[in-house]
Amino acid sequence: MEFWGVVLNSSLLFEVEGRLELRVPSEDGHGPVRAEFVEGRVGWRLRRAGRSQAIGKAVGLKKGKPLPSVVDATAGLGRDSALLAVLGCNVIAFERSPEIHALLVDGLRSAADSDLGPLLRERIATRLGDSIEELPTVSPGPDVVLVDPMHPNRRSKAKVRKEMRALRAVVGEDCDAKDLVAVALSCAKDRVVVKRPAKAAPLILAPSFQVEGKTVRFDVYLRES
Ligand SMILES: C[S@@+](CC[C@H](N)C(=O)[O-])C[C@H]1O[C@@H](n2cnc3c(N)ncnc32)[C@H](O)[C@@H]1O
Repeated sequence: MEFWGVVLNSSLLFEVEGRLELRVPSEDGHGPVRAEFVEGRVGWRLRRAGRSQAIGKAVGLKKGKPLPSVVDATAGLGRDSALLAVLGCNVIAFERSPEIHALLVDGLRSAADSDLGPLLRERIATRLGDSIEELPTVSPGPDVVLVDPMHPNRRSKAKVRKEMRALRAVVGEDCDAKDLVAVALSCAKDRVVVKRPAKAAPLILAPSFQVEGKTVRFDVYLRES
């Protein structure tokens, strides 16, 4: 299948009524997954986003301070990238899975004619590639690198959203997440933000500080100036 210039040899992606869907066979029969920015929970959240959100605090958004440039090193379905974009940041979003990258591009294309479209188009640049290799090539270096690797599968199925279960079926676990954080720390000018489940241990050494969300936590590693 060719989709937006990328040739996909995937039996999991389907084009349905002009939208790209991921369909993963599963015991619990969860439905198809799309990257969605306009409708539903994500659209609702994007339209109400404010700087006091945990992710905004974690990347360092403050009144009167210039907006940071961000590399989202683990773009997935692009929700964090979109949230940062509506909060004002320019984001380069790297995703290494061709299937997930294609879903992300499709979601942004489909949002183009919505109220959020111009902003998302202007502020998010998607890239297919592995951040461990690509991050050092980003020039000028970003102020902030966000890392949100796939988390180990410890929660009960009922508590893991269908998007994450489907994503896991395609990309597995990100076993090289610590290597990614190490590269991020050498490239970010201001800080690296690692998104973790609320009760999980930090991925690497103790962070400079933590920002707690409802179900997630952001571990912030400040670069020494
Ligand atoms: C938990 S998901 C990210 C979800 C994302 N934050 C969102 O808001 O939709 C992790 C994603 O990061 C991708 N990923 C992990 N390591 C990567 C790397 N080194 N380079 C690029 N993508 C990576 C995985 O393929 C997966 O799609």
